[in-house]
Amino acid sequence: MKCLIIDAVHSAIAEELGKYMQVDTKMLPTQQELAALIPDYDVLIMRVDPAINKEILDAAKNLKVIGVCSVGLNHIDLDTAKEKGIQVINAPGLNGNAVAELTISKMLDLSRHTIPANADVKVNKNWDKYKFVGRELRGKTLGILGFGRIGQRVGELGRAFLMDVVAYDPYLPAHVFEEQHAKSMSIDEVLKVSDYVTIHMPLTPETKDLFNAKSIAEMKDDAVVLNMSRGGIVNEKDMYEALKAGKIGGYASDVMENELAAGGLTEGASFDSPLFECDNFIVTPHLGAQTVDASRDIGAHIIAKVKEALNLG
Ligand SMILES: NC(=O)c1ccc[n+]([C@@H]2O[C@H](COP(=O)([O-])OP(=O)(O)OC[C@H]3O[C@@H](n4cnc5c(N)ncnc54)[C@H](O)[C@@H]3O)[C@@H](O)[C@H]2O)c1
Repeated sequence: MKCLIIDAVHSAIAEELGKYMQVDTKMLPTQQELAALIPDYDVLIMRVDPAINKEILDAAKNLKVIGVCSVGLNHIDLDTAKEKGIQVINAPGLNGNAVAELTISKMLDLSRHTIPANADVKVNKNWDKYKFVGRELRGKTLGILGFGRIGQRVGELGRAFLMDVVAYDPYLPAHVFEEQHAKSMSIDEVLKVSDYVTIHMPLTPETKDLFNAKSIAEMKDDAVVLNMSRGGIVNEKDMYEALKAGKIGGYASDVMENELAAGGLTEGASFDSPLFECDNFIVTPHLGAQTVDASRDIGAHIIAKVKEALNLG
């Protein structure tokens, strides 16, 4: 048997699966490169790049398992995988705390202007403590859109900062909100009352562009929006216009519409966005789950599931 690893995943995966099969690594191949490589392999270990389309799955004559070291599976053609009997394993829940902590970090960064202040000192050589007056999280309303594992952990952390937590998730029973000390609301109500709105739902046809100019129009002018889930849920054109017009306090994101994830790797693709002009836009390159702690836990989970799927050891 042969295993192909195509992204930075915990080293224990190669070590453990290497006891049972040949393990090769080819970092971040394009879709075309992967389609050419895949016919030999029984196991594919990946994160979210490149998108696994029908062409790759058609070429994957020996493939039995795809181990995805992340949560979302919108980058995989799951119907075709199912048709072909290829098991797709993901790692739900294990990176939730990592993403939740990053969310809080960005709420603090936007609230205290730490990123422009850091640049002002280090790049501009200014030492002006009156330039960046922030606000505290304490006593503010935290609105969570999508109240699953990550959303609930963000709520828990928000409560530690003495925030009031409100949430929108039409797929959850009432008792979940009660247990999490969060007030269940419609999306419009959440947008209206929140000082911070944070998005933690999957990208689906229903959630594509869910957050748009209409959402922004319902919010307080100084409210802050965070998207740690998937690019495409927030309409970036609308967000850009709102930031430029001062209709919103700030936007923090770990994901972008045209990031490489889920769109496949396009040869020579450059990465840019009008949002980069906005001082009150802060961004990280989809590193929400990138902690040694999450990587170790996900690695252990994927190893166990791949071994179970292939009846190894
Ligand atoms: N930035 C990162 O690195 C990173 C890492 C992990 C996950 N994520 C993203 O975060 C998302 C959430 O992860 P999770 O582990 O909390 O998943 P989860 O499945 O536990 O929670 C998602 C929640 O969204 C809700 N939801 C679905 N459609 C909705 C809609 N239309 N409106 C409101 N709520 C809706 C579901 O009911 C569910 O409770 C994932 O789908 C993934 O895309 C990003």
